[in-house]
Formats: sequence, C-alpha cells, structure tokens
Amino acid sequence: MEKLYPVKKICCIGAGYVGGPTMAVIANNCPEIEVYVADINQERIAGWNEENLDLLPVYEPGLDTLISKSRGFNLFFTTNIKNSIQEADIIFLSVNTPTKSKGIGAGKASDLKWIEASAREIARYALGHTIVVEKSTIPVRTADTIKQILFSCEDIDKDSREIKSFSVLSNPEFLAEGTAINDLQNPDRVLIGGDDEKAVETLSSIYSKWIDEKKILKTNLWSSELSKLTANAFLAQRISSINSVAAICEVTGANITEVSNAIGMDSRIGNKFLKSGPGFGGSCFTKDILNLVYLSNFYGLERVADYWDQVLKINIWTRNRISEIIVEKLFGTLSQKKLTILGFSFKADTNDTRDSSAIQICKNLLEEGAKLEIYDPKVTKEQIEIELNKNKSSITEKNISSGSWEYSDSIYQSVINSDAVIILTEWDEFKNIDWSRIISNMRRPAWLFDTRNVANHKLAKSCGLKVWQLGRNLI
Ligand code: UDX
Ligand code: UDX
Repeated sequence: MEKLYPVKKICCIGAGYVGGPTMAVIANNCPEIEVYVADINQERIAGWNEENLDLLPVYEPGLDTLISKSRGFNLFFTTNIKNSIQEADIIFLSVNTPTKSKGIGAGKASDLKWIEASAREIARYALGHTIVVEKSTIPVRTADTIKQILFSCEDIDKDSREIKSFSVLSNPEFLAEGTAINDLQNPDRVLIGGDDEKAVETLSSIYSKWIDEKKILKTNLWSSELSKLTANAFLAQRISSINSVAAICEVTGANITEVSNAIGMDSRIGNKFLKSGPGFGGSCFTKDILNLVYLSNFYGLERVADYWDQVLKINIWTRNRISEIIVEKLFGTLSQKKLTILGFSFKADTNDTRDSSAIQICKNLLEEGAKLEIYDPKVTKEQIEIELNKNKSSITEKNISSGSWEYSDSIYQSVINSDAVIILTEWDEFKNIDWSRIISNMRRPAWLFDTRNVANHKLAKSCGLKVWQLGRNLI
C-alpha cells in the first residue's frame, strides 16, 4: 500500500479570516497543488477576486502580496462548492462556529449547524477518497458528528461508479489576526489529530514543504480538538490575570508595565501576552471559553466550569471598569460631551471587530449620553454601525439612544471640540500623534484615556492634556 494519498487539489469551505489567509499560504508553498476556496457568500468571494487588493474582504499585513502571486495560478476563490468538493483530495472546514443564540446550550455551546451542513454537502458530492480536515475551532468530539455523517454515505457513487470514502482529521488553526501570514509561514507548531495514519501523514507532507517536521505534532483526534480550546483559554486567562493586576496597580501606585516586565523575565512565566488593555476580543477567546465551560458542566465538572467562567467575568468587568472611570473623570456625566474614540477593531492590524472591547465600551458611553466620534484606520462606518446596532432590540440590551455617534476618517478632525480622546486599539499611528495639534482643537479640560498604553504620554501631558493610563495611575 502507498504510504500517502495523492493530493492534486485542495478545497477549503469558508473564505473567512481563517480560510482565506491559510489557503493563500498553502498555495504559495505548494505550487503543484490547486487550491480552491469556496464560500456560500457571493459578496465575499467577489471581494477575494477583487483586482484592487486594498478591497480584499480581510485586511492582513502581507496577504495582498501572497494573493497577487497565487490567485488565478493555483489559488481560486469560488462559490461553486459542489465542484470544489467533487475534485478535492483534501477538504478543510473553515466555516464559522458561533455561540448558539437559542435552544439547548444557548449562550455557551457552539452552533455547529454550518459544520453539519458542510459535512452533508461533502457526503453528497465527494468522489473517491477524501480527507476531511476540521480547521474551525469546534467543541471536543465534533469529529464524531462529522464521521457519522460522512461514513453513513460511504458507498459506490451511482454516476461515476467510484468508491466514496473518507478520513477525518483535526488540524486546528493557531494563527492570530494581524500576524496571520507570519504565524502560518513560521508556526510554533502544527497539530494534526487523527487515527488514520495514512491521512495524517498525507496532511503532514503538505505542511512539511515549508515547516520543519519536528514542529508537526501528531495526536489523537480528541487531544487535538481539546488542545485548541485549551491554548485559547490559557491565552485569555493571561490577559484577564494581567488586567486584574492593572486594577491593583492603579490603587497601589505600582506600574503595570514594570510589573509585566518583572514577571515576564521569569522564564517559567515568559514575556508574551502580558499587555494589559481594555479586555480581550476577537472571534475566538470568549466563544472558546464558553465552550470549555459548557463542556465542563456537561461532564459534571462544575468547579472547573466556574474556574474558566471567571476569566470571562473579569473580561466583562474590565470593559465596564474603563467606561466607568471615563464617566467619573468627566465629572460624572457625559451628557452633551463629545468623546473621540481612536480604534474600534479588537486589536491592531486587522479590520475585524468581532467581540471587540470597543463595542461594549462605546455602548456604555452612549448610554451615558455621550456624542462619540469614532476613528479607525481599517474599520468601515458600515461595520461600526452593524456592531453598535446588534441586539439593540433585545430587552436585556441597554438603551443607547441617549447618545449619538459619528464616523471620522481623520484623527485630527475627530478631536474638534472634543472633551476626551480614548485609545481603544493599539494602532501604530496612535503612537506618534501630535498632541500639540490635538489639544488646540479640544475643549478644556482635555483628557486622554489610554487603555493600551501606546501614546506619547509625556508629550500629551506637556501639551496640557490630563492623562489617564491603564494600570499606572494612583487614583
Ligand atoms: C471561523 C470561526 O469563527 C472560528 O471559530 C474557526 O476557528 C474558523 O472559522 P473565521 O474564518 O474568522 O473563523 O470566520 P468567518 O470570517 O466568519 O468565515 C467563515 C466563512 O464561512 C464565511 O465567509 C461564511 O460565508 C462561510 N460559510 C459558512 C460557508 O461557506 N458555508 C457555510 O455553510 C457556512
Ligand atoms: C487568538 C489566538 O492568539 C490564536 O492562536 C487563535 O488561533 C485565535 O485566537 P486572535 O484572536 O486573532 O488570536 O488575536 P490575539 O493576538 O490572540 O488577541 C486576542 C485579544 O487579546 C485581542 O483583543 C488583543 O488585543 C488582546 N490581547 C492580546 C491583550 O489584551 N494583551 C496581550 O498581551 C495580547
């Protein structure tokens, strides 16, 4: 028996923040393989096929260069899911797996309807042997569901007379947005979980074209699925930990940057992921921890569930704490006050706003009656509108109609008559703001609230701004 399955064509279902960049990197490293990225969303696919690379649906440094090299050569974006499935030797599932909004497990469990729908499409259209790879972050034991759907359709295809068969692997994504291309090109590790050795080796042979084999870990399916959730939970936990310490710094006179440096130099702790901020956001952390909480409760591990739930509680508390401090410093009321928000994406170098802390903080400020002027170098006005209007009709949602917001495409315009500038995302351009120009247009007393500790505070203070820095002020 051959040691590997032949791979001429790869398909990825889901052309999102994960599917698009991941397939661009595979296509660039494997010119002999044709890579098809298929999505049900026509607008998204049209975006990926845009001539003007500034209009790609995902902003990610370095992505445009990869797309321009491979697109139309061995990388194709299509809505033709059926054909892409039929011809593929390997199919990656990169569809979204949001938290369920209703029914059993609502607010905690992942909604697997897209994974199931995709598995059913694969079961229906695949021909020959197909390796199906879970790329999306999914609850532990999802591979079981996918296997049940696929294996129940293993048979001789009526038209082609070919035997239909499947292998199911887990190959979670560890890329972080903003550094996705580098993370994919030089990963710390690649994790492949599965019990079909030939399929595992086949997928491994793709990655080994550009990644050292020592970094390719092979585990059982469930370890692979659980490792992804655990990695994200650990990362999120570090942020909640450092944010809780930032609050202690503010009341004791300690400085969070100094504390982070001091603990990060301990090689057992390490210096990464120790930046305090307005709370973690993004499509993964909250969803994955909710998932872990749900899983723990399901297996009767209530203490474990409570432990991880606390990481989320601190995150929500961090967001609310920041808006409360702003209100308090601005004499207890935001009514008729104009506040400039700098940064709306959940982190720098991405246009992604999913679960961004800016959303909750802006909603809190609007509820206090503020007039917000929002600037972000990559997030569009339409996207901000979607986020601020989401769940507005829900009875639990606070009333945000008392305030109002405008979109601004210039930092310097956005501060005219403003009472405060609030930095919520650590975009590079906020590091070099000319505070003398800013303050001349602001109402006094003029405030700077820097939740990311990126601005030139010395300069801002010398220009006359009152400055609040996260984790640094003795209140
Ligand atoms: C998603 C999940 O959020 C994450 O948990 C997982 O780890 C990877 O997949 P992302 O790529 O960031 O991450 O999601 P998103 O940008 O929403 O892209 C998913 C795409 O799948 C969308 O473009 C959607 O149209 C597409 N899709 C969804 C399909 O093509 N078919 C479906 O049946 C469902
Ligand atoms: C995360 C994981 O890092 C990645 O491995 C996984 O595949 C997907 O989820 P991502 O959400 O894209 O990636 O970005 P990440 O860099 O992890 O940041 C998540 C959030 O934490 C952001 O809101 C960021 O601002 C915040 N953060 C991160 C901090 O507040 N402090 C830090 O030190 C690091």
